[in-house]
Amino acid sequence: MTRAATIVGWGMAVPAQVRTNTDLERMIDTSDAWIVSRTGIHERRIAAEHESTFTLARSAAEQALQVAGVQPIDVDLVVVATLTPEYGFPATASLVQDAIGAARAGAFDLNAACAGFVYGMAVVRSLIESGAHRTVLLIGSDTMSRVVDWTDRSTCVLFGDGAGAVVMQAADDGGGILSTAVGSDGAGAGLLIQQAGGSRQPASAAALAAGDHFLRMNGREVYKFAVKATADAARQVMRTAGLAPDEVDLFIPHQANLRIIRSAARGAGIPMARVFVNADRYGNTSAGSIPIALCEALHEGRVQPGDRVVLVGFGAGLAWAAAALTWTAAPVDRRAERPQAAAAGAR
Ligand code: ACO
Repeated sequence: MTRAATIVGWGMAVPAQVRTNTDLERMIDTSDAWIVSRTGIHERRIAAEHESTFTLARSAAEQALQVAGVQPIDVDLVVVATLTPEYGFPATASLVQDAIGAARAGAFDLNAACAGFVYGMAVVRSLIESGAHRTVLLIGSDTMSRVVDWTDRSTCVLFGDGAGAVVMQAADDGGGILSTAVGSDGAGAGLLIQQAGGSRQPASAAALAAGDHFLRMNGREVYKFAVKATADAARQVMRTAGLAPDEVDLFIPHQANLRIIRSAARGAGIPMARVFVNADRYGNTSAGSIPIALCEALHEGRVQPGDRVVLVGFGAGLAWAAAALTWTAAPVDRRAERPQAAAAGAR
């Protein structure tokens, strides 16, 4: 039987500090009505001084290991998807690997912007299916508040901070990831970019004065790309998995903007009743967005064993990635009643 990769544990971490649209009205020339009508976002979480991409990633990872019943020493690989790493280098994944005590694990970061977590699923799936690794911790973590220009109303209202993590292992009894797809259009690199701080334009007083260390975005162009890429990628993974849109129990798109989500769901042929949305409470948490949404969907009981779930991420690059899967893990609160399922997650 072909070995398939599946999710056996999950966790999320968001800062306690909430920044509402009303808070933003006091900081910049905007209004709650504009933000809600254009994006569906009501509030987002903002990291406190002691919080960062690493601290959020570590918390989400520890939860995911606990849910999976996996000991850190049994983790083979730690992957952190992020565009706001703790440092330029070393990799945030190495910091997490050390902090959680995953002494046997390799570690690397993956940057596919907001598509990073689903890109990571595609990579980790291959590593597990090939037999190269047995237990992998995949984390999406970003602190976008550290790279947005809080005087630029066209971007700062959109983003928030947060992390989500999953533990992936081989599925014994079928199910797991059915298909994945990744894509890129680097011709759109300039549409969403942090220009300074890399090798082209290293950190300098001039870069700082020009604000080139901040995220800059052509919102209209990114919007058009996002709707089409999300719908096309969802259709692609459904087709490869042999799923019709009405066989998808839950669609979890990147939580950038409610209007994008609505249009993309229409394009994918999936009604909003089967689409998960929490952008209203967190905004766009970049690589954290999809694993946070997955965790909340699980907590709300919207994903049950046997359900078909489609995930799609998109972002700077331009880049996009999608995955279709059959959910296999028993809900945490029912594991005591279902010892077999619990044991499968705890291997
Ligand atoms: N409050 C009030 N007015 C605003 C604000 C604001 N926060 N932001 C922009 N405006 C104004 C603009 O200045 C403009 O005014 P003008 O007509 O006088 O020039 C007007 O509102 C309309 O601006 P548009 O940009 O046309 O507004 P639009 O309806 O396109 O919505 C938005 C803008 C929400 C940014 C939309 O383009 C969008 O969601 N784009 C996609 C963004 C996205 O999801 N990016 C993340 C990608 S993922 C990643 O990798 C990070």
